Amino acid sequence: DKAQQDAMKKEAGIEAAKLVKSGMIVGLGTGSTVRFLVDELGRRKQEEGLEFTGVTTSRRTQEQAEGYGIKIVNIDEVDHIDLCIDGADEVDKDFNGIKGGGAALLWEKIVAINSDRIVWIVDASKLVDVIGQFPLPVEVIPFGAMHVIERMKERGYKPTLRLDADGKPVRTDENNYVVDLHLERIEDPAALHEDLINMVGVVEDGLFLDMVNEVIVGDPNGPRTLVN
Ligand code: A5P
Repeated sequence: DKAQQDAMKKEAGIEAAKLVKSGMIVGLGTGSTVRFLVDELGRRKQEEGLEFTGVTTSRRTQEQAEGYGIKIVNIDEVDHIDLCIDGADEVDKDFNGIKGGGAALLWEKIVAINSDRIVWIVDASKLVDVIGQFPLPVEVIPFGAMHVIERMKERGYKPTLRLDADGKPVRTDENNYVVDLHLERIEDPAALHEDLINMVGVVEDGLFLDMVNEVIVGDPNGPRTLVN
């Protein structure tokens, strides 16, 4: 149930916070699991004097972190990121993942590829045999988006434009749209990524393929770490 799942997310977030040491530059992801991570880092800052610099993957995470007085800098102000900790929507055995359930995939991928070490924090329900049950988020430029969606339909990708509670298109931090692909099973993630990224109007997709170094899984018996 939801309470149990939240407890597992929190456990994973607290475990990952232990990886952060004073002096580090740390990429901070987005989502409900990362929220627990940032709470714990805020606690450690206040109670243990932990001092690190954060690079955030969304305005939401930036606001939360700055609320704790954590120093946040723009990614272009740093020459490297020591460690990036983020959530994920699905992860398979080959460490391929889907991200972007929270619409932050673009900044998340930019922070991730510029990080020396990538760690994901998940509850066990995110571990799957084949990714794709979770709809794959794709960030699309608003101009001409309906034509991009039409082309995705022709390819059999079952796209839906993500809408907010008022029925308006969700906007990312870059003011783009999110199109979710209802694929059920993604048998060849690399081929799908190649196809999507070459569509004019697509900015980025939520396939994070063999990019993560470790996955910390919240478990009732204590957190487990899967090493890629
Ligand atoms: C944000 O866009 C996503 O990539 C999140 O990292 C992902 O959706 C995980 O979110 P939760 O921790 O809320 O499940």
